[in-house]
Amino acid sequence: MAQSPSDYNRTAQARGLPALHPDALAHSGRVAAHLRAAVRAAGGWLPFDEFMRLALYAPGLGYYTAGSAKLDPGDARTPAGDFTTAPELTPLFGQALARQVAQVLAATGTDTVLEFGAGSGALAESVLAALAARGMAVRYQILEVSADLRQRQQARLAPFDGQVAWLDSQPAAFEGCVLANEVLDAMPVRLFAWHAPDRLCERGVVLDAQEDFAWEERPADDTLADAVAARMPALPGYASEVNLQAEAWMRELGGWLVRGAALLIDYGFPQREYYHPQRAGGTLMCHLRHHAHADPFVAPGLQDITAHVDFTAMADAALAGGLDVLGYTSQARLLSNAGLIELLAQHDPAQARDYARWAGPVHRLLSEAEMGELFKALAVGRGIDPPLLGFARGDRRDAL
Ligand SMILES: C[S@@+](CC[C@H](N)C(=O)[O-])C[C@H]1O[C@@H](n2cnc3c(N)ncnc32)[C@H](O)[C@@H]1O
Repeated sequence: MAQSPSDYNRTAQARGLPALHPDALAHSGRVAAHLRAAVRAAGGWLPFDEFMRLALYAPGLGYYTAGSAKLDPGDARTPAGDFTTAPELTPLFGQALARQVAQVLAATGTDTVLEFGAGSGALAESVLAALAARGMAVRYQILEVSADLRQRQQARLAPFDGQVAWLDSQPAAFEGCVLANEVLDAMPVRLFAWHAPDRLCERGVVLDAQEDFAWEERPADDTLADAVAARMPALPGYASEVNLQAEAWMRELGGWLVRGAALLIDYGFPQREYYHPQRAGGTLMCHLRHHAHADPFVAPGLQDITAHVDFTAMADAALAGGLDVLGYTSQARLLSNAGLIELLAQHDPAQARDYARWAGPVHRLLSEAEMGELFKALAVGRGIDPPLLGFARGDRRDAL
């Protein structure tokens, strides 16, 4: 029989996982049943990207589409969610990005921002407030696939009534500035494994004799084989992932971004580093109540599943969509160039407790040991000339 909710809590501690509330586990049981049905409907083998899509986005069930807390401000004493993101840590992140947004809007003579995957609405709130402080009353659009998060965004952004609108699909044509923080990493990935120079397999999900989820590999189809061959030589024993959905998203961006720039921030690397021989297990990660681990079969529907972003593939897809690549750099560089340190300096170091509240998150955003180097920013666009403010120093496009 498949693992029951009480089985989870009995074994969680030994596996280094948090104990979970029975209601949450009951929900996870429903998500698991949905996933099992999908495996059976697929003939017994479900490609991993489809498993990930359902676990994260199945309507009313998936991690992003049902009501769990997900994001929190990263205060270790009271973690309510599973992970934290830069805009959750401090409004200074959004205030710095607002300077970059303002430059794009001024350079293109437009007044609209479109944010993808706005999470709790924290980034929108800080960008809108910072632009208002500069006397800019922009139109702010949000495209959010999660109905649950969309509701939370609507409640949080109610003070900006009249300025914010939610879209149901990508616009046919858009002029302005596009933002997406930690969205590409949340798109479903296909998993591959090399077994011999001429044997590339795709990892999928089956049900074992106990009806638990298990891995099974099949020969890769031509689409996956071509994508992998374009990234790395055959390397038996090597397993990783490709994010073809994110690439398609970037190509489509070229179809509707008529004028302006898109700023994509996420954790990841250029292709050479991503598919480095030493990264032989790929980058798939799960986040459950601030526990990071690599097993996507744990507590389906209750944990985030994510993979790092191959920024070379994203830049190539943007070029294929007819866009220019305007800049690529680390998050630390982007934020420093956009004036994060000056924004922090507006707070008085003599007020020690208040200053620490601002300085701590800024340190996390900039530190090489934390988010400063692992996170990167890629800017692509059309009808706009570099240098963009955030990439004026330390642009690394040549590394892509
Ligand atoms: C890791 S969360 C990041 C949330 C927020 N941007 C932040 O930084 O706090 C990923 C977000 O992307 C959304 N998302 C995933 N795929 C998407 C897509 N194709 N279009 C729009 N939103 C998407 C999720 O629902 C969620 O809001």
